[in-house]
Amino acid sequence: MGYKVTIEQGSLEFSVNAQENLLNAALQAKINLPHGCKSGSCGACKCKVIHGDIELEEYNKTVLSDDDITNNYILLCKASAQSDVILDIPGFTNGFPIKTMPSKIESIDKVGSVTILKLKLPANQIFEFYAGQYIDIIYEGKNRSYSIANSPTTKGIIELHIRYRQGGVFSEAAWHTLTVNQILRFKGPMGNFTLQNSNNPILMVCTGTGFAPLKAILEQMVAEKNQREVHLIWGNFTAEDFYLTDILPNWQNQLSLKVTLCTNDQAEGYYTGMVTDYIQETFNDLSQHEIYACGNPAMIENLYNIASSQLKLDKRNFYSDVFTPSI
Ligand code: FES
Repeated sequence: MGYKVTIEQGSLEFSVNAQENLLNAALQAKINLPHGCKSGSCGACKCKVIHGDIELEEYNKTVLSDDDITNNYILLCKASAQSDVILDIPGFTNGFPIKTMPSKIESIDKVGSVTILKLKLPANQIFEFYAGQYIDIIYEGKNRSYSIANSPTTKGIIELHIRYRQGGVFSEAAWHTLTVNQILRFKGPMGNFTLQNSNNPILMVCTGTGFAPLKAILEQMVAEKNQREVHLIWGNFTAEDFYLTDILPNWQNQLSLKVTLCTNDQAEGYYTGMVTDYIQETFNDLSQHEIYACGNPAMIENLYNIASSQLKLDKRNFYSDVFTPSI
């Protein structure tokens, strides 16, 4: 039996049958709903059901808690419709078409333990994306997700930040074997981690190479002369793990931007502690803020819990891009 699924934002609709999951049905209908693992473990496809009956298959309870279930949250990749359904996906806008494309490696730079890979796009093909989205690199038969680290205002180029990880097939390749002019195929753009259209002050919170999509969004803000108040809070294990920090003062000259770098080191000019320690110490009311967070799942979950329960953040104003290292 077929049902109708409506997404409140943008009044988009697609059809689904009771046997297929909502995410697959949406993607088939060319509606690029937020997603990551497609297997119920990353939480990227979590959203709220405003109306309708849903059946959920087994999923990871750390990304969809019993509280979430009580509040009508579901994982789209594990949900099937048992009636017509209305979904609430804050900030959702149907993105650009997902394409599989070739690219040519233009440059490979190593900064600390991060490879900055620049890919040149074919001149005869159009690839459009929003600042903050990600692509899947197709390498040795597997897909590995990386955020695009530049804004679309830099035409014809995709920049990726890849932290070196021993045993990580693509990160090893980026560090040791990829060469300039080599062809890499990728699929994208994907994801819904994009700047919302409002005037609320922003906390951008990231760890490690979670900086990449925030860099893209900040570049976009520079291009648009956007003067929204932004506080970038970036955490790394050591002070040496920060990279590309030379661009921060330039952004601060052009944006209403404050920057705090957090590390375990006792180093001058850095906050000693985790990003969440700093936020707990510094803020007591985030009810007017939006948070954009990118990094490891534990940081994102911790931040979400602290901000929404202790610091009065409206849960609808928490936007996250969780990354799990791929092998
Ligand atoms: S895409 Fe649904 S939980 Fe990861």
